[in-house]
Amino acid sequence: MLTKLLPPNVATAEATADPSPDELFLFPEEEALIRNAVPKRRLEFGTVRWCARRAMGALGVEPAAVVPGRRGVPQWAPSVVGSMTHCAGFRGAALARAEEFAAVGIDAEPNAPLPEGVLESIALPQELRRTRELERAAPEIAWDRLLFSIKEAVYKTWFPLTGQELDFTDALVSVDAGQETFRARLLPAPESLSPAGPTAFSGRWSAERGVLLSAIAVPARRPAAAGAPAHGSAPRICRAGSACREGDLTGTT
Ligand SMILES: CC(C)(COP(=O)(O)OP(=O)(O)OC[C@H]1O[C@@H](n2cnc3c(N)ncnc32)[C@H](O)[C@@H]1OP(=O)(O)O)[C@@H](O)C(=O)NCCC(=O)NCCS
Repeated sequence: MLTKLLPPNVATAEATADPSPDELFLFPEEEALIRNAVPKRRLEFGTVRWCARRAMGALGVEPAAVVPGRRGVPQWAPSVVGSMTHCAGFRGAALARAEEFAAVGIDAEPNAPLPEGVLESIALPQELRRTRELERAAPEIAWDRLLFSIKEAVYKTWFPLTGQELDFTDALVSVDAGQETFRARLLPAPESLSPAGPTAFSGRWSAERGVLLSAIAVPARRPAAAGAPAHGSAPRICRAGSACREGDLTGTT
């Protein structure tokens, strides 16, 4: 399910059920983190790392431990960027080579409405209006939960690049229901945002088999080509499933 949401050179692996505990190998530093956890946490922690190691294999990278860093951000080998997610009925990892991608952010949520009152606390007024419209037009999708998931995917893309927190109302999300894509723009004043991350993102979402997924991949900045003007690079085509920077052209995949 994740593969079709991300560019082809992002490696993904997912599971809709947990493998048997014997299959869930953990590195000692991971085992130490999870030793006293409840069984549910052990399973999601183990299965998502099992997925991450499959994605490492697909990228041709040695399997390695994935331990949380500051604010829980997964620590990858320096040659790798990636993201992990787990919810009831889904665990997934998406990894890419750091020379090709600056960041990847994925999020999975059950396709079920948010608890009462949560939408109002995470949505901006225009997002709230659009969510209500979509709920009337296509009630089989929990649009409120999808908005939440997209904001989490934005955060999981942004934080590893910048180490900076974001509030839910810091990102304005617009969802294209027909194309199953989204765009998100960070609203805080540029001077308050880390220059290390993009201020606009585009991505893909899906609603399948009871699970909502959101995914973003940010292409790596390319070094300026020899002979290129010293002040900035030519605009890139900004495609759904990737992140856009000011000056990028908008394209479709
Ligand atoms: C960190 C957070 C995004 C995790 O999302 P979630 O839906 O609760 O949980 P998921 O299962 O999808 O993802 C959990 C995984 O996210 C990753 N993660 C945790 N903190 C992270 C961070 N700061 N940056 C990137 N990834 C992070 C970890 O790999 C974690 O798995 P693990 O604990 O097994 O290592 C969420 O708990 C959170 O703090 N959200 C508040 C901030 C936010 O989203 N703001 C919106 C801004 S627009």
